[in-house]
Amino acid sequence: MTTIPANLSRDEIQARLRATVATEGWDAAWKTGLTPWDVGNSQPPLRDILTSGRVNFPTEGTALVPGCGTGYDAVAIATELGLHTIGVDISATSLVASNAYKHEVGVKNVKFKAGDFFTMEGDFDLIYDYLFFVAISPEMRPAWGEQMAKLVKPGGYLICLVYPMDPPVDYGPPYYVRPNHVLEVLGEGWEKLVDEVPENSLEAHKGRESLLVLKRS
Ligand SMILES: C[S@@+](CC[C@H](N)C(=O)[O-])C[C@H]1O[C@@H](n2cnc3c(N)ncnc32)[C@H](O)[C@@H]1O
Repeated sequence: MTTIPANLSRDEIQARLRATVATEGWDAAWKTGLTPWDVGNSQPPLRDILTSGRVNFPTEGTALVPGCGTGYDAVAIATELGLHTIGVDISATSLVASNAYKHEVGVKNVKFKAGDFFTMEGDFDLIYDYLFFVAISPEMRPAWGEQMAKLVKPGGYLICLVYPMDPPVDYGPPYYVRPNHVLEVLGEGWEKLVDEVPENSLEAHKGRESLLVLKRS
């Protein structure tokens, strides 16, 4: 595995990530250690909403985390709700990181698989998206909405932590995003339970993220 030079700025790393994903795909980014989004822990707004008791999330069944990366959030869902949780990532190389993390934390009800979200089949009680919607090109967003409608079972939940809500850009990843972009492609058939700026965000995320929780009709 090659590594990126240590003296690169954050912007240079993001530019390299974009170029690598565009030309060689996500697995090449993982192989070269271009994973600047990886902060080593699960997201505070996810942990808060899972443990707050504000939403009657299922505690039996199966959850999916598409584009799961190292899998911190998948592990948080498995741990907090007790759901059998599947983290799927298109990069086979990412499985080295996610399986190492799974063994480090010793959580049994989580499984990591290589696969493409857009060709998946299944029937999930809960799906969680963080940094996946913004990782795919905007042309794929309608297909993302259709897949979510297929994969979340009636009565199931979709949690989207919408980030980074930065000024508009016409490139990515991450691509420009606002909560409405997510709601537009989901269309009808979803009840909005939560749509708010989280109280508790990572320092670097403050003022740049929003939490949506939707229930499938
Ligand atoms: C910006 S990273 C976010 C990773 C993770 N959600 C996290 O927060 O650590 C986006 C991830 O989506 C994965 N990915 C991209 N396209 C995908 C697809 N079609 N299906 C599944 N995973 C995909 C990439 O390999 C990458 O690991």
